[in-house]
Amino acid sequence: RREEISQHTLALQRAQDLYQQQLRKSPEAIAYLKKRGLTGEIAKQFGLGWASADRQALSTVFSPYSDPILVESGLVIQSDDGRRYDRFRERVMFPIRNTKGELVGFGGRIIGKGEPKYLNSPETPVFSKGQELYGLFEAKAAIRKEACIIVVEGYMDVVGLAQLGVGNAVATLGTATTPMHIQKLLRSSDRIIFSFDGDKAGRRAAWRALQTCLPLLRDDISIRFLFLPEEHDPDSYIRQFGAEAFRECIKESDALSTFFLNELADRFPLKEVEGRSRLVFEAKPLLAQIPQSAVKVQLHNELAKMVQLTPEELTNLLVSAPAMDD
Ligand code: UTP
Ligand code: MN
Ligand code: MN
Ligand code: MN
Ligand code: MN
Repeated sequence: RREEISQHTLALQRAQDLYQQQLRKSPEAIAYLKKRGLTGEIAKQFGLGWASADRQALSTVFSPYSDPILVESGLVIQSDDGRRYDRFRERVMFPIRNTKGELVGFGGRIIGKGEPKYLNSPETPVFSKGQELYGLFEAKAAIRKEACIIVVEGYMDVVGLAQLGVGNAVATLGTATTPMHIQKLLRSSDRIIFSFDGDKAGRRAAWRALQTCLPLLRDDISIRFLFLPEEHDPDSYIRQFGAEAFRECIKESDALSTFFLNELADRFPLKEVEGRSRLVFEAKPLLAQIPQSAVKVQLHNELAKMVQLTPEELTNLLVSAPAMDD
């Protein structure tokens, strides 16, 4: 197993060396990164690279090109007729490292028009999107210094924030936040701030992230949510308004409890008996997931207030009815 991992990471590293070398020789890729506000220094820090248009660019550093490790590691695609070609072409490359700093995959962004905007490595023995967080290795020192982790949606959010001095951001890789992600995050810091895109998809992702956090809530951790203006993501926001403004947003982020209660209150008409009852119905399975804790008791009490019940009345509603004997 260990040997398999090192075989994969060695192949990925060899590709990474080529991508970095190709970036230095590509004026159009360099111009693209400059246009996005990135310096050569930050590009180097994140190991950004460039995959050229050549369909078999990797054949210059791998011989034979038919080595099965190339397909297994996701660097090369084999079509049905047996022909092989590089997965990543004409893309800015973002190397993805695990917490040990080993290369496990890539994300590649197209710089012109075309689909998909980002192409990621497939799932391999060393790479699983539901487990890895982009930038976690690179952010280690900053996470310690800031005593918190910012979780964003995209590669460019991580790099763009780091460019302007906010180095403690990591990104999920185009997937929903998983319990494994949260566990990994909590191993690095007891303070997490989710800062997704300000659009509807971002808000939905935040609510899903909150639900994923519920079974892991404890009184000694802090989880907050930062909601940016509709048209922004963390990268565009910090580029337009600066690091000071972004840090101000972090200070004003919502506690998990606030987001939880506001979101539920927004969904149902609390002026009506039926609306308040529906809220209890929806909140029941959510509350049930939270481990016994002070935060759970207080959420319970706040919810009771919101639906005009006493905490005891709410408790009685939440205990599931005993199963009937037949
Ligand atoms: P976004 O579309 O918000 O990307 O997707 P972004 O980082 O803001 O991109 P820029 O600023 O236009 O460069 C967020 C994340 O979702 C995943 C990527 O991980 C991306 O960073 N994604 C998005 C994909 O995997 N594939 C896609 O086609 C699009
Ligand atoms: Mn911070
Ligand atoms: Mn988006
Ligand atoms: Mn963006
Ligand atoms: Mn975005």
